[in-house]
Amino acid sequence: MSFDDLSTELDLRKEQALYRCRRTLQTPQQPIVQVDGREYLAFCSNDYLGLANHPEVIKSFQTAANKYGVGGGASHLVNGHSQAHHELEEALAEFTGRPKALLFSTGYMANIGAVNALLGKQDAVFQDRLNHASLLDAGLLSGARFQRYLHNDSESLDKKLAKTEARRKLVVTDGVFSMDGDLAELPELSSVCKKHDAWLMVDDAHGFGCLGESGGGCAEHFSMPSDDLQVLVGTLGKGFGTAGAFVAGSEVLIETLVQHARTYIYTTSMPPAVAAATLTSLRLLQEESWRRDKLTQLIKQFRDGCQELGLTLMDSPTPIQPIMIGESDKAMQISKALEDDGIFISAIRPPTVPHGSARLRVTLSASHTEQQVERLLQSLEKVSV
Ligand SMILES: Cc1ncc(COP(=O)(O)O)c(C=O)c1O
Repeated sequence: MSFDDLSTELDLRKEQALYRCRRTLQTPQQPIVQVDGREYLAFCSNDYLGLANHPEVIKSFQTAANKYGVGGGASHLVNGHSQAHHELEEALAEFTGRPKALLFSTGYMANIGAVNALLGKQDAVFQDRLNHASLLDAGLLSGARFQRYLHNDSESLDKKLAKTEARRKLVVTDGVFSMDGDLAELPELSSVCKKHDAWLMVDDAHGFGCLGESGGGCAEHFSMPSDDLQVLVGTLGKGFGTAGAFVAGSEVLIETLVQHARTYIYTTSMPPAVAAATLTSLRLLQEESWRRDKLTQLIKQFRDGCQELGLTLMDSPTPIQPIMIGESDKAMQISKALEDDGIFISAIRPPTVPHGSARLRVTLSASHTEQQVERLLQSLEKVSV
């Protein structure tokens, strides 16, 4: 059997300006990067606090690599669960104010594992229509009745929950929506969940480190009692600047995941040195609140500047500040024009975002300077978005 059919599909993607290409980074993740041999000022990583290349985080990684070696060597339930993993789980439980936390090797795996450990065919899952792909995939894979409610619309959720007779009901939402930057209305969603005896699961991949006085994300931002938010997911590759993810919650929840989450059970543990490095980034994230203050300033500067330029921004209070473009080919053209001017921002296109809503996903980091944000604004003016 030939691959002609696949080639035709790939060609079609190119024609529709939906073809994706990898670019090669030759420096650490930081504001000035080298990509494919050229230097750029970048505004597209999720390293919101600038911890991915922090000297103390690197040092902890190196020290732990000397102690534990490189690979985890086995799954957590065989003999890959090291002291470094265990300490990080305890610290994350304390940080989130939950009895327990469980590490996963990626956020994608945490979401697939958690939803599938909790739900089966007799159950129902309700998802915001703009949820991250890993949450949507998790729901579809679970075999539970899968329904999407209107974005951040607790009435739409309420109506759907009122009609279900499922054994278990799980409502799932991003905390900060990854491609839009807005926050889930957690207090409203939680009261609808209570009314219908449903669990609430929040994936706060983009909230931890950025929101809340001590970086505790959406839950801290909204002062949500932990009993109102039963399944809390965080990823470590974004604000924490490392890699991996965790689920935090009650003893029963975490024990259920240990017994049933297949993406936890059937995979090698994350490298212990990553866990040790994350313990250091967790401390920096909690204690050094100046990074959140700096982000707030940069967000304001960027939004004010865009308003002056007449650019359409989304209603986002977070470091995710997408500029809505619309058609994919136009988004690609603008991204290329910015690149020619030394600014690196990738265009986000369908199917990552709905059709007709391609955008430049600008992300800010505490490691950017005011001058760099000014330089971005000048470039946006120049390419006349
Ligand atoms: C909301 C959300 N959840 C989960 C993930 C996946 O996390 P990871 O990159 O650790 O797999 C991402 C992005 O990568 C995300 O934006």
